[in-house]
Amino acid sequence: MKDDFVTALDLGTSKTCALLGRKGEKNKCEIIGVGFIPTSGLRKGAVIDLRKTTTTIEKAVEKAERPRNLTAHTLFVNIGGSHIKGINCQGAVEISNKNQEILKEDVENSIKVAKASSVSTEREIIATIPQEYVVDTESEIKKPEGMFGRRLEAKIFLVTGEKNSIQNVERCISGAGFGLEDIHLGVLASAESVLTQPEKEIGAFFLDIGGGTTDTIIYLKGVIKAINILPVGGDHITNDLAIGLRVPIAESERLKKEYGCCLESLITDHKLEIPLIDSMGRVFSKTGLASLAEIIEPRMEEIFLLTKRILNRSSYSSLIGAGVVLTGGTSLLKGAKELGEKIFEMPVRIGRPRNIIGFEKSIYNPIFSTAVGLLQYGLRRREAREHIPRFPQNNPLVRFYKKVRRTFSDFF
Ligand SMILES: Nc1ncnc2c1ncn2[C@@H]1O[C@H](COP(=O)(O)OP(=O)(O)OP(=O)(O)O)[C@@H](O)[C@H]1O
Ligand SMILES: [Mg+2]
Repeated sequence: MKDDFVTALDLGTSKTCALLGRKGEKNKCEIIGVGFIPTSGLRKGAVIDLRKTTTTIEKAVEKAERPRNLTAHTLFVNIGGSHIKGINCQGAVEISNKNQEILKEDVENSIKVAKASSVSTEREIIATIPQEYVVDTESEIKKPEGMFGRRLEAKIFLVTGEKNSIQNVERCISGAGFGLEDIHLGVLASAESVLTQPEKEIGAFFLDIGGGTTDTIIYLKGVIKAINILPVGGDHITNDLAIGLRVPIAESERLKKEYGCCLESLITDHKLEIPLIDSMGRVFSKTGLASLAEIIEPRMEEIFLLTKRILNRSSYSSLIGAGVVLTGGTSLLKGAKELGEKIFEMPVRIGRPRNIIGFEKSIYNPIFSTAVGLLQYGLRRREAREHIPRFPQNNPLVRFYKKVRRTFSDFF
């Protein structure tokens, strides 16, 4: 059954966010439902507990449906985790028709040849991104269809993931009673909702710093040059604080969000005394802003240095004209822009999702970049005539049964 709205599900390591949306005025995405809960069952972007992840999905979507009494049947879901790999590959074909005009089939065949030699049986292609075409000796061609030539070469960027990891996500979606319309790479969705076309053209280094992973994309001349996923994120900062201050994780998370700063030199108030609360809810000690920053700064610096190494190794670092764009929850950490500028030695901006209407202002938050990008991707896919859902069958009985069971377990 097809819904008249799109449901996007950002299955993140820290939080799971379901967004319901439809096409609004001026081609913008109108958000009509938001469900947002802490994730249970994922580690570093990958499913590690099927049952917990399934329950997380059910609860997030239910929350988004409730205010307008909507019912979602199928989902667009992100895929993440360090099993994701991006590779550059190429494939060439001879132009067979008599007058040597390049047809749509020739373009498709050149991409097929490029893909064929590049993927092992344990991996699945998640995204195929054409970079440029070469017609005979002419390179950097974006649309070869209709041109004349003897040989067409496609240069593509291929994103692949482990089949098992993708199947685990699919199992959780169907276990929650939903159909799956499509999967999309999380960081790609995030970049699509945040970056502007000029940034992609003049070159941008995009970083989505989440809870469990830091995902990067290098854009140049409007195309993706590299994608990387690192298994480090904001949750490592929370853990460092918990160990350093001997407080429970929930308390260190609160301290990080309320008082945390990742650049000690920005701290002006050296007198503020922050109470530390133990697992029994009792104040057992005090700390200052500088002591918190002393723990946070090295970890954030490490995240930036690891990503900078990726950029430097790529040989594109001197060509990044627009600078660095940060998004994801950890980009909200005070001082992230300033520390980023110090380390990358280029301008840094905090990226928020664009081209949306409806709902409260709270949705213009870097935490929602992936979910909004997924929603926009879903709306585009629905419009494409060739869109075929991965598995369209939802199971309303499963959803009904689980909802009732949860309601009863909440009562008793
Ligand atoms: N105001 C804030 N200040 C500092 N850190 C914050 C703030 N808000 C959220 N975070 C941190 O951001 C992280 C969560 O970000 P996000 O929601 O983008 O991650 P995720 O998508 O769930 O995880 P991932 O993308 O790694 O799978 C957590 O570590 C959280 O502590
Ligand atoms: Mg994320």
